[in-house]
Amino acid sequence: MAIKYLSKSKIQNKTVLLRVDVNVPIDNGQVNDSFRIEQVIPTIKRLQAAGNTVIVCGHLGRPKGKPDPQFSLEPVAKLMAEMLGYKFLRTDHQLPEYEINHLIFYTGNILEDKHQECLGTAPAKDVIFLENLRFYPGEEENDPVFAKKLASFAEVYVNDAFGVDHRESASTVGVTKYLPSYCGLLLEREIKSLDLVLKKVRHPFVVMTGGIKLSEKVGTLQNLGKQADKILVGGGVANLMFKVNGLEVGLSKIEDGKDKVAWEILKNFKDKIVLPLDVVVADKHMDRNSVRATAPYDIRKSEQILDEGPKTIFEFAKEIKKAKTIVWSGPLGLFEKPPFHHATMALARLIGGRGKGQAYIVAGGGDTVDAIRQAHQFDNIDHVSTGGGAMLEYLAGKKLPGIEALK
Ligand code: 3PG
Repeated sequence: MAIKYLSKSKIQNKTVLLRVDVNVPIDNGQVNDSFRIEQVIPTIKRLQAAGNTVIVCGHLGRPKGKPDPQFSLEPVAKLMAEMLGYKFLRTDHQLPEYEINHLIFYTGNILEDKHQECLGTAPAKDVIFLENLRFYPGEEENDPVFAKKLASFAEVYVNDAFGVDHRESASTVGVTKYLPSYCGLLLEREIKSLDLVLKKVRHPFVVMTGGIKLSEKVGTLQNLGKQADKILVGGGVANLMFKVNGLEVGLSKIEDGKDKVAWEILKNFKDKIVLPLDVVVADKHMDRNSVRATAPYDIRKSEQILDEGPKTIFEFAKEIKKAKTIVWSGPLGLFEKPPFHHATMALARLIGGRGKGQAYIVAGGGDTVDAIRQAHQFDNIDHVSTGGGAMLEYLAGKKLPGIEALK
């Protein structure tokens, strides 16, 4: 069956269970990155405009099936209330009677009937926001009893949680068995934007990758590598490839136990892979006086690679300037710590400069999104994905359980 899109449906005057991925970094009770929260606001507004009562649900971190205050979604709910322009309330506080919109943070145990008074009775102008679903073991186990309970609060289910659709949980998969289920506005945009790369790619097609963990990206590289014209490799992934090529990489960060995988990628795509021509290294303390740019075959045992050098930036830029499609996942160096930000920032700006016109650009993953923001290129990228692992799995050609369940 085909996916039913919220954008093309008339869901009116219903109670809607809306699964979102608002798994965001939180420090001292403050949300550090609001990107994922902002991206689901249009879906909430659209549902409310049609008279629906929205029950928002999501997860935060990995609390292992039991309540744990450090994984409370309350800071997220507060910020969402602010974004919607609503008053934030907890269900353990008294509800005011005046006619303004509220975001009601549901603090009770959703499995106990005595705590469920406000579910299903809130007016459509208010949004209900459930506490972290991973406080219940049934969520990650995709337990049918838990899924049925969730479904019992609503008449319709909308999935707008692309970032977690690679997980088979009660709120992404199980619940679809009990409710008419729809694809939200954000999820639709994710699917259609990523499909442009998978199904209608324009050449030259350049993949740029970095970060530390090759294991997370190997499926994506194997799949996109078939279509790519060039694969630009930097960061820890390049360090690993230097190592399997027999070069000294000193104290550089490298993912353990992945030599064979790196070797296979190098072998499969030897004519497409572009490795750094020069790198920026420093001693273990990253002392400014120890920083130097050097060839990859000239690294000392006491040094670590922390960025790519100017020749590499120039070489990667040549490919980026020709590209009609670019997929970027993973920073090229330790961009959070100057002076090791140059390659990531320079190439982020160049990629941004080509976006929305000369080339179609997709980027994603927590660190990559941070780098794009640091380079002020957010609005220049055609599609910044809210998915980290989910985006990589989708681009690897895998079927995501949360999306399959909507079919
Ligand atoms: C993510 O941040 O990648 C998703 O929210 C999934 O989280 P998880 O890896 O803890 O399942």
